[in-house]
This record gives sequence, C-alpha cells and structure tokens, in this order.
Amino acid sequence: MKTVYTYNKNRELMQRAAKVIPCGVYGHLGPAEGCMIPTSAYPFFVTKAKGSEMWDADGNRFIDYMCGYGPNVSGYCDPEIDEAAMKQIAIGNCTTLPNTIMVDFAELLTDTVKKDWAFFAKNGGDVTQLAIMTARAHTGRKKIIFVNGYYHGVAPWTQKPDSPGVLPEDCRNSIYIDFNDLTQLNKVISDQKEKIACFIATPYMHGNFKDNVLPADGYWQEVRRLCTENGIVLIIDDIRAGFRLNLAGSDAHYGFEADLICFCKAIANGYNVSALCGKNFIKPAVSSIMYTGSYWMSAVPFAAGIVNIKKLIKADACTYFRTLGLRLTDGLAKIAKSKNVNLSISGEPAMFYLMIKDDNSLILHQEWIAECVKRGAFLTNHHNHFINLSLTEDLVDETLEICDEAMDVMIKKHPEVYK
Ligand SMILES: Cc1ncc(COP(=O)(O)O)c(C=O)c1O
Repeated sequence: MKTVYTYNKNRELMQRAAKVIPCGVYGHLGPAEGCMIPTSAYPFFVTKAKGSEMWDADGNRFIDYMCGYGPNVSGYCDPEIDEAAMKQIAIGNCTTLPNTIMVDFAELLTDTVKKDWAFFAKNGGDVTQLAIMTARAHTGRKKIIFVNGYYHGVAPWTQKPDSPGVLPEDCRNSIYIDFNDLTQLNKVISDQKEKIACFIATPYMHGNFKDNVLPADGYWQEVRRLCTENGIVLIIDDIRAGFRLNLAGSDAHYGFEADLICFCKAIANGYNVSALCGKNFIKPAVSSIMYTGSYWMSAVPFAAGIVNIKKLIKADACTYFRTLGLRLTDGLAKIAKSKNVNLSISGEPAMFYLMIKDDNSLILHQEWIAECVKRGAFLTNHHNHFINLSLTEDLVDETLEICDEAMDVMIKKHPEVYK
C-alpha cells in the first residue's frame, strides 16, 4: 500500500497566495484552470524538482507527467543545461545589443527544424501572434482558418467572441472548421479564398477533455496542397508537440512542410524562449513587422537551448519518448483490462491522453487520477501528459503500481458501476 499524501502546508500557502495574487495561482498551473478536481487531491506549490520528480510544499514526492505543461523535456535541473545557463549569466544576459550566442542558436535551431530563419520571443502566444501577422503581411488578406478545439494562446484573436474581455470584432476574421475534415476546408476555401491569409493548427488534436485525434492518412498532404494552390499560409502551432514527436518539427513527423512553425515549450528545457521559424519566401513579410519585447533576445535561454537541443539529438530523444510512453500506456491498458475498466488512451505515446469511459461524466476518471496524484503519480484528468528524457523504466514501473492501486480504490467506491 502506498502512502496517501496530505497537503496542509500547501493549503496554508494557498490562503496566503489568494490574498495577494488573483485566484491564488491563476491560469493552467492553478486549481481552477488546471481542473484540479477534487481539489483536496492536489498540491498547489512545489519547493524543488529534479529529473522527472518534484516535491511539494508538504515534502510529498511526485513522478511528474505534466513536465511543467511541456517545458521539462530533458529533465528538471539538468546539470549540463543549467551549467550553460549559469555560465551565460556570468557573462551577460539582457544586454544593449544581443549576445553573439543568438546567432549560434538560430543556426542550430534552423538546421534542426529544417527552416530558413528563426525569430525569437518568450512565450508561445508571442509567436502564434507573429505567425498570424506575418501571414497577413505576406498575403494582404485578413481571415484565419482555425480548427475547432484549438488552443493557440490567450491573445484576443485566439479566443471566442463570448470570452470575458474579448470583443466580437477581435474574432470577426475567424473561420472555424473541424480537424481531419477536408470537405469543410474545401468549402471555406471555395467560398472565401481571396480573403484567407492562413490556416493555423496543431499537428494533431491534443485538446483538453476529449480523446486526442491523430491526422488521417493523407490529411496534411492535402491541406498542404490546398494552401499552396490558393496562396494560403500554412502555420503549424508546434508549441506543445514540438521536439516531442520529431526533432525536425511535427510537420516533418507527419510528412509535410509548414510555411511557418511555432515552437516554445521544449526548446530550452524551461529557460524562457519561443521561436517562429519559417521559409525564405515569407522572410520579407516577417522582417517588415515591428515586433519585439524587453527580454526577447536575452542570452541565457539561448545558451540553455543550444545544450538542450544537442542533448535531445544525441539521445535520439523522440524515439525514447515514444518507447517509454508506450511502456506506460501499454501497462495502463493491461491494468485497466484486467479490472474491466474502459480506459481510453489516445494521442501520441510521447504525449498520451487518458480517459476512463465507464460513465457519462468525468467523475470516475477524475477520482482515479486524484487517487494517483495522492500516491505520487502526478497526472491530470483533462489534458495530455508528457514524457521527458530523464524518465526511466523504473519510474514508469513505479507509476504503473500507483495507477493500479489507485484504480482499485476508485473501483471500490463505485459498486454501482463495477459490480
Ligand atoms: C498548442 C499551444 N499553442 C499555444 C500555446 C500558448 O503558449 P504560451 O502559454 O507559452 O503563450 C500553448 C500553451 O499551452 C499551446 O499548448
């Protein structure tokens, strides 16, 4: 039997935080947006992290499959990456002119992802915004095609017209279609082709609260063909999946080539840098845009990013992520089957998505995940997970033991379902 965690210090800290920080912890790292349901099962703050593990304010240890929602790709506090960052701190970070290391990083990144140029910023939303602006500057058109269920950040143009703080005008140029649906894509193009600047999508649908969906055979090749024929810029938002499926970018993984591709989370193992990468034909358009930020050319993340990318290449990281992801998901599937639990596993193994489907609500699934978290396997009930390079087979096997015990606890609480 595993120890069941308690969170007294976490709760005291949350009370302090709520007084001085909106929502205590806002956004996806907080209990509301993070859907930490039931909240009693989750910690709110960590004190340290190393490799694939993190320790909360009460000293509880977790094997962390959220990886900071993506940035932890080589392992928390990786000594080589941190050493490169510290060396750079000692010789200059935010300077009046960018450090020479920016050029080194741009060369390495463009070589790795097979694009002609890289434009650096800080967050994913900075570069999805720049991608849209670039497409509009290049085409002189206004409209954006989105795929239903998308997430491209929090700027008003990415939100729905009825979201708080968003004006209907912010979304006036948005067109929404379904993923894998070429009929819909053909129709919007034939109706409005002269007005469409770009098609923006993640490489596969890794949305929340639903099974993740991979591209149908030939889908991306046909999207590519339609965009090229109609002068529409094809933008891939690889902020979440980038460097987890294929180090050359997820467009390469699925056998097509994006015009613009957005990277962020996994570039520098948690050091803050994002990048828009693109083809030469669209470089004049991106160069014509006035776009910058106070910290966007800071040198420390470039130093970290260089070591991180080299490390991922050397380790053939994406093969490793897939192998360990399959070890975990195959193990979970076996456990669920042995207990007659209908566990759906979807998405890519490196970014697996889980959902128990034995009721019409999320309750059974949320309860199972909550029991896993309370025993030290940090999973979520509504979001894809992430594998990182420091994860080991032993940690995966320990996770399977936790998930097994947690499933028994959930089953016992629901005799009405599991007779
Ligand atoms: C697919 C995708 N696009 C864009 C973003 C926005 O990135 P950021 O939160 O760094 O602005 C995210 C963040 O989770 C994401 O997953």
